[in-house]
Amino acid sequence: MIHLTQSDRGRLPELVALRRDLHAYPELSGQEERTSRIVAERLAALGIEVRAQVGGTGVVGVLRGARAGPCVALRADMDALPIQEATGAPYASRIPGVMHACGHDVHTTCLVGAATLLAEHRDSLPGTVKFLFQPAEEDDRGAQAMLADGALEDPEPSAICGLHTFPRLAAGQIGVRAGPLMAGIDSVRIMVRGAAGHGAAPHRAVDAVVAAAATVVSLQHVVSRRLDPQEPAVVTVGMFHAGVAPNVIAATAELRGTVRWMRAETRDRLPALIRETIESTCRSYGATVEIDYARTLPPVVNDPRVTEAVSRAATRLLGHDAVRPAEPTMGGDDFALYLARVPGCYLWLGTGNPERGIIYDWHDPRYDVDEDALATGSTLLAESALELLNGSHIEEESR
Ligand code: NI
Repeated sequence: MIHLTQSDRGRLPELVALRRDLHAYPELSGQEERTSRIVAERLAALGIEVRAQVGGTGVVGVLRGARAGPCVALRADMDALPIQEATGAPYASRIPGVMHACGHDVHTTCLVGAATLLAEHRDSLPGTVKFLFQPAEEDDRGAQAMLADGALEDPEPSAICGLHTFPRLAAGQIGVRAGPLMAGIDSVRIMVRGAAGHGAAPHRAVDAVVAAAATVVSLQHVVSRRLDPQEPAVVTVGMFHAGVAPNVIAATAELRGTVRWMRAETRDRLPALIRETIESTCRSYGATVEIDYARTLPPVVNDPRVTEAVSRAATRLLGHDAVRPAEPTMGGDDFALYLARVPGCYLWLGTGNPERGIIYDWHDPRYDVDEDALATGSTLLAESALELLNGSHIEEESR
């Protein structure tokens, strides 16, 4: 059984150069042309089979080891956000209004790094490793598109692993946890309909702004008063559009929100509670309402056995102290869609460094990473793949 060691971290300068290049030229969801071209070229240069334009701008690499065995998949997302970067770094985005503010440049680089390490061990690789470079995570469409385009077929992986940067963990550390890690996402669009009128004569109108404002406030009570406090959930109304003039009572108001949950029982209860709250609130103001409630993503739930294997690989590679229990978040990730098909593990890659001022959260225009994490991430993905490929062998040994 082959293992990677700390000396495999020696490739850090190469990884830093790649990450800075990707960081300087970020691309929005579904437009990852340059990034996917670079990825495809790197994989091809390593002798890895490449399938480009999977689910749009996605890339799938297949590395077949010299020995027959199972297939394990590793996934990275590649897209950036519509944010104007404010880090002032020399490698800051050169594309106005577009920024890698969620670390997907780091994910892409780590997966290229892992592919490089694994390709070097091809002769002793006991199976196949599949590399999924996914577009459009930020708009929740990329994983769906990759799956629809057969990314998990031929060969079909028996386990999948991926990572996300985590600013509140120091570079060199990782966070791992079996079970729920990230929330399920639903979305709601609410159209409140009243009747327009003169701002001075509210009794002859139905004020959609007041009905919608009351609806926003009432919705805050769904989680705090209707759900068990032990049940994690969030209801956020992030958009409120209404009105044409200060002295005109608005006939309509549009609200849009996001709903987060961890457990299936919560998911089953939320739509009816939300609907009932919206309808009764609007009715009390004389307004009518149309509600579109949609399921967007399931939660990210890590498989206990795969997570155990990844923890073992991480402890061997990084040492016991570097492997921390992962803090769950109500953020979501479409990695959940792979996990719905294949048992797997999503983990946090520590990228923070308070001493160097690297403290900002995801989607902050000042977001940056400690690039030492690139070595940790790439060796960890490679070592996890090895551990998972060797899984059947380990089971036999322990029997
Ligand atoms: Ni992200």
